Amino acid sequence: MASTSFIIVAIDGGAASGKSTSSRTLSEQFNLLHVDTGSFYRAVTAEFLRRGISPGDLAAVQAAVAGLDLGTRIVGRSAQMEIGGRVVPEAEIRSREVNDHVSHFAALPEVRTALLAYQRHQAEVARAGGFRGLVMEGRDIGSVIFPNATFRFFLHADPQERARRRAREGGNDSIAERDRLDSSRKTAPLACPDGAISIDTTHLSLAEVVDTMAVPISARLAS
Ligand code: C5P
Repeated sequence: MASTSFIIVAIDGGAASGKSTSSRTLSEQFNLLHVDTGSFYRAVTAEFLRRGISPGDLAAVQAAVAGLDLGTRIVGRSAQMEIGGRVVPEAEIRSREVNDHVSHFAALPEVRTALLAYQRHQAEVARAGGFRGLVMEGRDIGSVIFPNATFRFFLHADPQERARRRAREGGNDSIAERDRLDSSRKTAPLACPDGAISIDTTHLSLAEVVDTMAVPISARLAS
């Protein structure tokens, strides 16, 4: 008999490691809510920049996070962050300015703490939306947000290959610098958590990456 339990799939990895495309595909394949936590950090960064707040101004950051009115809108299978009832447009969250600032805001414990409960709450959003579970991608999902996730994957790839992928997507992004900041910060640094399944995607096609994760997920759902 197929399992009816709710599953949580955590996918962590550096910029352009293959997380977004593969987690979107898994969400379709298994009816999981797709939660891109990078887009949450980006939305909050865009909001701070709109208000003229810099990552160095801790008092302003603290006041701003305390007053953030966060909600979630489900668009297709994807969870989008609302700030004050507004979803920050995709063009804005992928802008050069946000690329350049997001890792600086994301390194602040005040910002990470403010987003912790919001990210965990996505499991309730997925349940209420009738999903089979959720697939959440980020940097600290398997280590901090859902350390007991049903599956924890860590994707990595050669830096040159990742730069090529981002350039093919047309992105104007300093991924090496973001990775450096994300890996070296004190709070929740980017690292493969103990016990997670590590996948080197450098020489794999998207289908192969997805299959590596889909096989154990299918087996679990069929058990
Ligand atoms: O995934 P993406 O590259 O869009 O994430 C943008 C930035 O958000 C990352 O470089 C990182 O600084 C931050 N982030 C994070 N923790 C997460 C997801 C993203 O610190 N779970």
